[in-house]
Amino acid sequence: MQSAIARSGINVALVKYWGKREAARNLPAVGSLALTLEAPGTETQVTFDPLLAEDRFALNGVEREDARVVALLDQVRALAGFHSKARVESHNTVLTASGLASSASGFAALGVASWCAAGLPWDPLSPDPRLVDVVRCGSGSAPRSLLGGLVELSRETGQIHQLLAPENCDLRLAIAVLSKQPKAMSSRQGMAHTAATSPYFEPFVTFHEGDLKQARQAIQSKDFAMLGEAMERSTWRMHAAMIASDPPLRYLASGSLRVIEAVEALRAQGVSAYFTADAGPQVKTLCQTCDQARVDEALRALPEVLELQWAKPGSGCQVRMV
Ligand code: PMV
Repeated sequence: MQSAIARSGINVALVKYWGKREAARNLPAVGSLALTLEAPGTETQVTFDPLLAEDRFALNGVEREDARVVALLDQVRALAGFHSKARVESHNTVLTASGLASSASGFAALGVASWCAAGLPWDPLSPDPRLVDVVRCGSGSAPRSLLGGLVELSRETGQIHQLLAPENCDLRLAIAVLSKQPKAMSSRQGMAHTAATSPYFEPFVTFHEGDLKQARQAIQSKDFAMLGEAMERSTWRMHAAMIASDPPLRYLASGSLRVIEAVEALRAQGVSAYFTADAGPQVKTLCQTCDQARVDEALRALPEVLELQWAKPGSGCQVRMV
């Protein structure tokens, strides 16, 4: 029996991935750039056990069937050259399926734990491209959680590289929880629906490269406002493409707009804070450490905010053998 435990933080996209250019390898229609967080995230133990008749998967202590988990394990078994089934125990410290990227930390932790339990080579600073492919097939945004700090995922290769190490990222992210309901449509379905029905999907793809370029340049020149502007622009463009679908795909809720207005008001008062939101109503606010207290005070004052969690840049997926 071989067992490994991997721990992975969620990542939040600054420049968004939405849409696929190849379904089989789950390659994205656009590149993306994200911040990997220390927490919240997922911890997953994988044990390959020759005595098991089938794969067993439990999430937060509840057994469930998940074809994507089995598909990932099958790919790892094929690369390692054995057939043993696995016991997978996963714990999320992030709300599942509510636009908080639980699938990203989930598939990163599952990929690394099964990879290491299968005895395949692991380098935390430079993950094996085959592992990146396996993790990306589970969830398109998950490879970004393998590395720490600011991470780019390439449209061309589907591979990842680190743009800035976590210790050099003077960033804090406030996650405003506005609803604890699971989202109405998964991102996989939402992307297919947007690509098939939104007249704004193609323009989103066309203009996306400019946002990526600006974000890369902002990181290089340590220009936080420029990075925040690229993030907000990419966020609005992604949501515009979704909302223009038929029928419309709207993940933002009225409370999300209240948080966005509060962030804009902070900026008008000279606080450098910028928002983003993904496939769910929760709004995340990015700022530098020096502005954390002002942002915290403004967001906690909003009655729509059920919970406010602060997150720091994380160092990517960590693993230990057991
Ligand atoms: O990896 P998925 O299929 O959960 O897609 C994630 C899509 C967004 O979170 C909306 C954007 C992104 O780049 O993370």
